Amino acid sequence: PSRIILDTDLAMGAGADVDDGFALALAHADPDIQLDLVTTVNGNTDVESATILTGILLDRLNVQNTPLVRGCGTPIIHTDLERVPAPHVAALKESARKPDPGYAPLAIIEHVLAHPGEITLVAIGPLTNVAIALLLEPRIKTALKELVIMGGIFLGTMYSRSKPGEFNVFSDPEAARAVLRSGVPQRWVGLDVTLQVRLGMAEAQDLARAPTDFAAFAGEATIKYIEHQAVRFPGRRPRPDSIPMHDPLAVAAVSKPDLLEYRDMAVSVITGDGEAKGVMIADRLECPDPPVPNCRVAVGVDAEGFKKHFLGLIHTL
Ligand code: BDR
Ligand code: CA
Repeated sequence: PSRIILDTDLAMGAGADVDDGFALALAHADPDIQLDLVTTVNGNTDVESATILTGILLDRLNVQNTPLVRGCGTPIIHTDLERVPAPHVAALKESARKPDPGYAPLAIIEHVLAHPGEITLVAIGPLTNVAIALLLEPRIKTALKELVIMGGIFLGTMYSRSKPGEFNVFSDPEAARAVLRSGVPQRWVGLDVTLQVRLGMAEAQDLARAPTDFAAFAGEATIKYIEHQAVRFPGRRPRPDSIPMHDPLAVAAVSKPDLLEYRDMAVSVITGDGEAKGVMIADRLECPDPPVPNCRVAVGVDAEGFKKHFLGLIHTL
């Protein structure tokens, strides 16, 4: 199996986005993936809540031997952008599995250097931990097997905001830039493909009725989240009745790379504080004298194939 570190801003269980939780579950369930380490980062929620919620989910999935290490609490430069914890999450702390001691960037470095050429780092939140690890210990650049990143938008320009950009990149654009410039082999699974893989209300209800613990819990969480989307975006037509499985698609890309179609690109990202913060400039190398590519970008997806792989495994949990 492929050995991975999963770096996540998981919020499943806080009434928020559920896709990190599904990604963690998929990484655990896939026999072709070995989950070596889980690290947390500020993003969908604050890092403390992400760590508590990830601990709870690891317990629920009965994952006992994979360390869980907490990471960065703010973006690298925009340190005022620490997320506010959901009030009820702190109360869950006592029942959650305690994280292992340490700090995510250091734990990533230690694990990657201990297994050169073997570890794929799958990043499904803002890239803060990854960038700090690269800056602290550049030797991981050659020791990493690959980076697989859920992030970015490369072919289109808009998502749910009226501004362009993708959450994981605009949440810490300086980190994204450091990663893009690192020279590490990297595959980006962005909104161009992830918006095509969606979990609908009927599938969520199906999961909620499952006899297995995680599937039932995740089904309920998804139903709530879809309903919450409808309240959050009252004017949106048609009303959302499905949610994208962004992060699980990045996990699937590790063991089933052929579910996606890729193109080499030379990508840069706009940093700083302006209106264009986090916007990506993706050069598709179509000019006569193209720049050197720095990443592979997913540009097509076998959505049916993914859903079959994903739901088949989630229903076993
Ligand atoms: C990304 O943002 C988060 O809300 C999701 O978990 C995913 O990682 C999609 O833009
Ligand atoms: Ca995420």
